[in-house]
Amino acid sequence: MNPAQHRLAAPGPGSADWTERFAARARMGGGDLTAILSLVGAAGTITFSGGFPAPETFPVGVVEGLVADLVEKDGAVALQYTPTEGLASSRVAVADLVQATQGVRPDPAQVLVTSGGIEALQLLCGVFVDAGDAVAVEAPTYLGALMAFRRSGAEVVGISMTDAGLDVDELDRHLRRDGPAPKLLYVIPDHQNPTGLTLSLEGRRALVDLCARHGVLVVEDVAYRELGFDGEPLPSLWSLAPDTVVQIGTFSKILFPGVRLGWAVGPRAVVAAMASAKQNSDQCAGALGQRIMSAFVAGGHFPAHLEAARRLYAARAAAMVAGLERSMPPSTTWTRPQGGFFVWLTAPEGVDTVALAADAQREGVAFVPGAPFYVDGRGRNQIRLAFSGVPEARIDEGVRRLGRLLGAPKAAA
Ligand SMILES: Cc1ncc(COP(=O)(O)O)c(C=O)c1O
Repeated sequence: MNPAQHRLAAPGPGSADWTERFAARARMGGGDLTAILSLVGAAGTITFSGGFPAPETFPVGVVEGLVADLVEKDGAVALQYTPTEGLASSRVAVADLVQATQGVRPDPAQVLVTSGGIEALQLLCGVFVDAGDAVAVEAPTYLGALMAFRRSGAEVVGISMTDAGLDVDELDRHLRRDGPAPKLLYVIPDHQNPTGLTLSLEGRRALVDLCARHGVLVVEDVAYRELGFDGEPLPSLWSLAPDTVVQIGTFSKILFPGVRLGWAVGPRAVVAAMASAKQNSDQCAGALGQRIMSAFVAGGHFPAHLEAARRLYAARAAAMVAGLERSMPPSTTWTRPQGGFFVWLTAPEGVDTVALAADAQREGVAFVPGAPFYVDGRGRNQIRLAFSGVPEARIDEGVRRLGRLLGAPKAAA
């Protein structure tokens, strides 16, 4: 027994403070995401906080037909447990989708179907991260990933970003210094969360070469990859270096999050170990969601569905950028995303965006302050604005409110 436990009073009826008995990892907090999600429903608030897909993109009609059909004709599979790796049909569907969108086909045996992208990250932590292990991430990066790494006891180091994605020269310098190399490098190369930035082709090649040389496994998160507004996407890191990269994907942004479905594709031994870890979590992703997804892929619905989603998000991104140009003070800067859900705004030095978030809430506009996206206190004057879930007219109004808060002169009506 832990000696600290001897000092605790035996819990009597209604008197125990159970929080004193929490494991260390549960006392690390992790409420950042919960706070973001809780703002979503606040009445009257224009919510640029959560990275939520637009419900207008959900393929309700197609899914209604698929579900009725699946339950009637394939209920014994669609309503049952599945193998831990996923149904054979789901693994083939993911392989088909990856081939269609990335030009290289993974062996379905190297595909693991997960309960969303976040589970894939947790499984990777379970497989690779012991307390004290180093993990490198982009600075800033996706909050859910930061929380997963930290809760696993990782020492997380942030590598800066440039306008062309992760700063590969800084990564190079980091890997050359004395001290243990990170076990994992987590990157979101396309339309990144939270910055909206995309890693250049040159950067992609340099990054995978560097990591291969230093024995660092690259974790490539492709959550927003298929949501580029125009032009061909750049090659995925996994397609460039399948032995050095494990790719994790999610259907949350490109289909809908209601089924909590994602995937991992990577070196055989890594995927096998993740599948083994999954036996100790949920054992398998839900069969109904898997069958909906594979029927959606097999039915050839994805290309038109993605095209419509890209158009919708492109219009929202354009509305946000135009609104920022109208409403922000001159010393404020922001990214101009070519895809995905986010604009990343940098206010003048000295602006405290945590305090600003509280004022903004009173004005009926919500965003996420920048600091939690970093591991080292950077980002105090930055904010993430998600345009994905807000119609254009509301985007304009929300950005106007934000501009007033940041002290811009009132734009002409
Ligand atoms: C970069 C990135 N990866 C993964 C996820 C998690 O996706 P899922 O809903 O599938 O867990 C998100 C969600 O916001 C994300 O932004």
